[in-house]
Amino acid sequence: MRNHLVSFALATAAALYLPSGANAARPCGGSNGGSFQYRLGDVRYDGPDPSKNNDLATIAASLQGSNGTPLYECVGQWPEAWAGWYQGESNIIWADCIYTGAGAGPDNTVSFAVDWDNKTMYLAHTFACSDATGSHGLATGSITLDVNCTTADDSSHCVPKTTDSGTRPNLSIATVLVPGSENTAPTCVDTSKEYQSWRVEEWQRSFKMEPGASPIDPKLSEDTGPSFTLKSSANGNTFNCSPSEGEDGAFVGNCTSSEGTSTTADFRFDPSLNMLEISEHWACEDAPSLDVVGVGYVQAACERVFNSDKFICSSAPVWIGTGVV
Ligand SMILES: *[C@@H]1O[C@H](CO)[C@@H](O)[C@H](O)[C@H]1NC(C)=O
Ligand SMILES: *[C@@H]1O[C@H](CO)[C@@H](O)[C@H](O)[C@H]1NC(C)=O
Ligand SMILES: *[C@@H]1O[C@H](CO)[C@@H](O)[C@H](O)[C@H]1NC(C)=O
Ligand SMILES: *[C@@H]1O[C@H](CO)[C@@H](O)[C@H](O)[C@H]1NC(C)=O
Repeated sequence: MRNHLVSFALATAAALYLPSGANAARPCGGSNGGSFQYRLGDVRYDGPDPSKNNDLATIAASLQGSNGTPLYECVGQWPEAWAGWYQGESNIIWADCIYTGAGAGPDNTVSFAVDWDNKTMYLAHTFACSDATGSHGLATGSITLDVNCTTADDSSHCVPKTTDSGTRPNLSIATVLVPGSENTAPTCVDTSKEYQSWRVEEWQRSFKMEPGASPIDPKLSEDTGPSFTLKSSANGNTFNCSPSEGEDGAFVGNCTSSEGTSTTADFRFDPSLNMLEISEHWACEDAPSLDVVGVGYVQAACERVFNSDKFICSSAPVWIGTGVV
């Protein structure tokens, strides 16, 4: 299965070049609007691989369309002791689910997070509202998994328990529209009370890696750190983010906004774990100020420039939330 994970990471990198999400849309209102469902295909947790000596746990899940075809591959990775929470504390780690279907999927972004202590998987997806041009919806849901864990050769893995008749369980995650998320221009006071999340877009990073270096233990040089745009899903504020300095092997930077926004944002990216921490500070005139923090596992896809030791990384838009949904 480890090999399987590697091969599907490669497959998903290739899939990034497919036109994805171009016409992604779902109904946000109407009689049966606002509630959705994703079936779960394979779900698997792998404890740290003793041969890699990196203490990283990996969680992978595939999401299927209503006809059972695989649509998204979700993979997240963090130090095992964190159990899905950034540094083991109060921010859950969101990770991208990569679209692998044909054509355009129904969503613009799909992200998931896992609270491994109680085996709860959270899902959040964003889409254009097919019934309200210009609006975008956010729908969220969760499932608690009943897993069967086994350990062999010093490595452990867990999969959902089989049914009494020995077949794979029929698992799905139901999601519902987050009320208000489809508003395009709410006021500062309204949005500061809403669930806060962002879209990270136009991710760019480059570095050099010695020829022959192992991707598992790469020795990188001339790492630029990430530059990206950050779009608040709550009010559409857009920031440009790029690192201004290094800090203990991580990249930190402030995000600038050309609009007169009432919020400021900054970020920290740890390249050894691919962890992006985003902070946004809200200062509305007529409401108490608010600090929100979200964490994403942003792996991106890195490609070697032809005949060069330089790699360029990019990513489809990634949705990052602020805590469980
Ligand atoms: C799992 O734990 C989190 C907090 O750690 C809690 O918010 C959530 O409700 C729990 N979920 C279940 C299904 O127990
Ligand atoms: C748990 O895993 C073991 C070993 O893979 C398997 O034999 C057993 O049937 C599984 N039990 C359930 C309930 O999934
Ligand atoms: C699986 O669950 C979904 C949602 O609950 C249901 O619509 C579907 O009929 C179930 N399929 C099977 C084979 O039980
Ligand atoms: C970000 O801006 C704040 C306030 O202007 C400043 O104190 C801080 O040093 C800046 N951080 C970086 C990494 O540039």
